[in-house]
Amino acid sequence: MSDAPNSSPAPAAYAGPRRVLSGIQASGALHLGNYLGALKRFTQLQDTGAPCLLFVADLHAITVWQDPALLTAQTREIAAAYLASGLDPARSIIFPQSAVRAHADLAWIFNCVARLGWLDRMTQFKEKSGKHKERSSVGLYTYPVLQAADILLYKATEVPTGEDQKQHLELTRDIAAKFNNDFNAPGFFPLPEPLTQGPAPRVMSLRDGAAKMSKSDPSDQSRINLTDDADTILAKVRKAKTDPEPLPETIEALDARPEAKNLVTIYAALADLSREQVLAEFGGQGFGAFKPKLADLAVASMAPVTAEMRRLMADPTEIDRVLKDGAERATAIADPVLDDVKQIVGFWRG
Ligand code: TYM
Repeated sequence: MSDAPNSSPAPAAYAGPRRVLSGIQASGALHLGNYLGALKRFTQLQDTGAPCLLFVADLHAITVWQDPALLTAQTREIAAAYLASGLDPARSIIFPQSAVRAHADLAWIFNCVARLGWLDRMTQFKEKSGKHKERSSVGLYTYPVLQAADILLYKATEVPTGEDQKQHLELTRDIAAKFNNDFNAPGFFPLPEPLTQGPAPRVMSLRDGAAKMSKSDPSDQSRINLTDDADTILAKVRKAKTDPEPLPETIEALDARPEAKNLVTIYAALADLSREQVLAEFGGQGFGAFKPKLADLAVASMAPVTAEMRRLMADPTEIDRVLKDGAERATAIADPVLDDVKQIVGFWRG
């Protein structure tokens, strides 16, 4: 086993433009955690004037089995969610990952930069592979390397995600630093800033305050899906697990009460309030009073997004046009970066 020869650190700062990038896997229904942890924040960043690239991670989706017909539908559904939550395809680039070939090319090069020890530490692989690691796809193991390629292919400087992606974003920085150093290319890749600290970086299950709200939870009661209608949302919030105490007056008192903390966090993120403000209004009241207010707020916030997603999904022409245009614009940024990488690595280019 031999390592790269260049052992001198190359800490030169990256001098390129600001660029925001994120992705969502095309693997099942989107939920409130995706909305608050990711979609809503993408729109807020776009509205600050930041150039944004948002993609549907279909290459990542197939690291576990996906029905091919469903994969296409799920890809369109995520594109619809981007548009319905306020991303403007004239300002932001929205595209399917697999339509830009350079992602897979760069991922291979990064497979040769990343170290096995780094990947062995990735907790998401351990969670997703479960007890039968040897039956997992190789893709599931190298998944974070592809994620690094997604980000660095566009020299993204900021990556907004929920908290669960933090470890992958740290790995991305390690890969960028090692590439810059090994190939003596200081400042070639930026070390992207993980923006994992939004108002709701980790929305929890409605059935268990210790588990993340997740697409893969077998209980549909555990999450609010972006496609749920108002009655379903009302019923799910009403049945959400809580404790018998009234809501506290202080944030500190929430720490020992994960379910209450989760519902207060969701309320605050939906209403664009701080949790302190929510407790100032509801502290001392029971869940019998709080839950209907939360359900109404969730319905009022989600209903326009859901309706717009349904409208877009009914005729995918518009979605397909956005994805095609996005893929062309993304390719125009990605290809020159990949060309530079190939030159740096020493590949024959004719
Ligand atoms: P994915 O598809 O699992 O989730 C999409 C986004 O939603 C966030 N999220 C949550 N936020 C708060 N609370 C939750 N319960 C919750 N569940 C999910 C995720 O953090 C994410 O921001 N590996 C990524 C997709 C990806 C990517 C990338 C992201 C591929 N390449 C490059 C950023 C940059 C994933 O599986 O996200």
